[in-house]
Amino acid sequence: MRKMAASDVDEVLAIEDAVQAYPWTRGNFSDALDSGYLCYVDECNGKICSYAVLMAGVDEAELLNMAVAAEHQRKGMGSRMLMAVLQIACDRGLPRVLLEVRASNLAAISLYRLVGFAEVSVRRNYYRNASGSEDAIVMACDIPSPLAHDGTTSQSTKPASVQVAGYLPQVGEVDMSVAGANSASLTQTGERSGGRDCG
Ligand SMILES: CC(C)(COP(=O)(O)OP(=O)(O)OC[C@H]1O[C@@H](n2cnc3c(N)ncnc32)[C@H](O)[C@@H]1OP(=O)(O)O)[C@@H](O)C(=O)NCCC(=O)NCCS
Repeated sequence: MRKMAASDVDEVLAIEDAVQAYPWTRGNFSDALDSGYLCYVDECNGKICSYAVLMAGVDEAELLNMAVAAEHQRKGMGSRMLMAVLQIACDRGLPRVLLEVRASNLAAISLYRLVGFAEVSVRRNYYRNASGSEDAIVMACDIPSPLAHDGTTSQSTKPASVQVAGYLPQVGEVDMSVAGANSASLTQTGERSGGRDCG
């Protein structure tokens, strides 16, 4: 995986237009890069096969967009990208990743749940669609970090990346009761203001 460059936008846009029901525009990707959002691509045989755009806030990150090229879907690329996103947030001392997803996007919701995200709230009629509007599901994933918010370290001396590598579940090994606990503790997060959405 590597950082997305401006020269990648053509390739990314081709995937976006092919797989997203409501694709970002070239301007959206350019703005994301210009704004310093964390934009990453993954490559297969020298071609971009997946990408993600993450906005880092003060104490949380928001996943704004991600996709996998059609020919690479259902091969674990989406899970791999999401794990990388969680690792990036952890490395930056951001203990939580949030996202919004269309209620109709069952593939993405399944993937997010599998990797450890849990639903925290619903934004009614948040997205426009062909029949008028649809809900946004707000999902969050808490990442245990050894770094406290005031910069002091906790008992562990391991770097965050080592901690999260040990914590992050392997695909298929997620304990949904833990995800449920996340959900209960995060219900207030639905009130935050957002940027663009990972619908
Ligand atoms: C959602 C998306 C990123 C998933 O990527 P992916 O590489 O296919 O995901 P993975 O192979 O890692 O799938 C992991 C699990 O997620 C779930 N999943 C993924 N795609 C699914 C689908 N189409 N239907 C149902 N479950 C799905 C499954 O549980 C899957 O495990 P399995 O293949 O063993 O059954 C991809 O379908 C995509 O790019 N969609 C269009 C863009 C989009 O919706 N982005 C998210 C909102 S911004």
